[in-house]
Amino acid sequence: MDLAEHKLFAAGMLFAATLVLAKLVASVLAPRSGKRLPPTVSAPPVIGGLLRFMRGPIPMIREEYAKLGGVFTLNIVNRKITFFIGSEVSGHFFKAPEAQLSQQEVYQFNVPTFGPGVVFDVDYSVRQEQFRFFTEALRVTKLRSYVDQMVVEAEDYFSKWGDSGTVDLKYELEHLIILTASRCLLGREVRDNLFDDVSALFHDLDNGMRPISVIFPYLPIPAHRRRDRARARIAEIFSTIIRSRKSSGKSEDDMLQCFIDSKYKNGRSTTEGEITGLLIAALFAGQHTSSITSTWTGAYMLRHKQYFSAAVEEQKEIMARHGNKLDHDILSEMDVLYRCIKEALRLHPPLIMLLRYSHDDFTVTTKEGKEYDIPKGHIVATSPAFANRLPHIYKNPDTYDPDRFAAGREEDKAAGAFSYISFGGGRHGCLGEPFAYLQIKAIWSHLLRNFEFELVSPFPQNNWNAMVVGVKGEVMVRYKRRKLSVDN
Ligand code: HEM
Repeated sequence: MDLAEHKLFAAGMLFAATLVLAKLVASVLAPRSGKRLPPTVSAPPVIGGLLRFMRGPIPMIREEYAKLGGVFTLNIVNRKITFFIGSEVSGHFFKAPEAQLSQQEVYQFNVPTFGPGVVFDVDYSVRQEQFRFFTEALRVTKLRSYVDQMVVEAEDYFSKWGDSGTVDLKYELEHLIILTASRCLLGREVRDNLFDDVSALFHDLDNGMRPISVIFPYLPIPAHRRRDRARARIAEIFSTIIRSRKSSGKSEDDMLQCFIDSKYKNGRSTTEGEITGLLIAALFAGQHTSSITSTWTGAYMLRHKQYFSAAVEEQKEIMARHGNKLDHDILSEMDVLYRCIKEALRLHPPLIMLLRYSHDDFTVTTKEGKEYDIPKGHIVATSPAFANRLPHIYKNPDTYDPDRFAAGREEDKAAGAFSYISFGGGRHGCLGEPFAYLQIKAIWSHLLRNFEFELVSPFPQNNWNAMVVGVKGEVMVRYKRRKLSVDN
């Protein structure tokens, strides 16, 4: 945070503290309701809750879950955040109708980045239609052609590596995934001709989303100004591309084309602004999440060599059946690799906290059978990063053990729905999950078939300071080119 941000943040905090004080007085004077409210996290008044949260949400949740159980409320300035932890209560979080628990209020901070007229800037009925456009753009028939492009991008990227060398795996996978996302989502024009310009603009958009942006998304700080300039320029670039595609009558195999061809129920076509906004939303949803997961997958397979070897063996079996070919259906046969990715993502979900806003009073029942009334106006939160490691669901939850998902164990299924929530679930479950797995599998099957690796830097840690929690520092690996064949 720079000096200007600090000052504005402090002023905001002062304002919020005044509000809180007024609320405290009002709550003391107000008559007691008969509601069975969840227990409250004890913290010093006014900004105590905020400080505990900022010191680390996950340690706070761990401590309070042990003391208070699966439902508890944290007072943060003038807000009440009620946590739902564990599959028994998070089912309510994921399945509740929009009229009861909605996303729009809590994810408003995305609006200046995604732009007007899309996703959290529109009513639920329009948003649902826009999510239908995502669903259609990510159908199996579309995924098949995206996979072909992913494979070409991976082959091309790694062909530039030498016979041996040392690289930062995190940096390399981030770059490859930007290229792939450009090709499959943003389209050929950006990937082939405008890649550097558009990447730089997306970089500014990305940097414009900071922790402070969640509270004050329009604060006039330099990062937000750069974000707004970049957003305007991206809109110009896509307007030109969309017009040129429409006038040429040419159709491409990418998400941009799907959004151009999408129609609302009333027959209206998408506007240039909406198409641009939806593409930005797709990139924000899928790019960092996928590159972080591909890096953790590599880091864990290299640390626990038995899983690397098992994944190599699987590649050999698949090559025995299909030769060197890689396509959607062949990637779908890679169960060992799938479990290695899924387990890395269980331990390190990039979205550590999911939020909703409560529009109505409702009741939840905890694992122990306690009933709590959740009032209208609370923010409701659940945490994949914490819930994915609950010991009553996962044996040795902090251990990397991809076989926990194998037939016969399937710990996530045995414990019931919403036990594994890296992709959320229910009403707003991730629409890009199959795309993400295919992309990470396309990269890792190429690497497993063409290289040997050794992790030469210490095993990485989480970077808790990022909005999308990623890998801290470099992940240095030594590689040596080798061609995997069915007999070696
Ligand atoms: C490893 C990669 C990914 C992870 C961990 C991930 C995680 C998530 C999570 C946790 C949610 C639910 C948010 C909530 O309930 O508040 C979500 C929603 C969503 N994701 Fe993903 N995601 C990934 C990749 C992708 C990709 C590649 C795309 C698209 C290309 C995508 C598109 C979406 C969309 C459109 C939603 C909103 C669904 C709705 O609200 O109905 N995601 N994702």
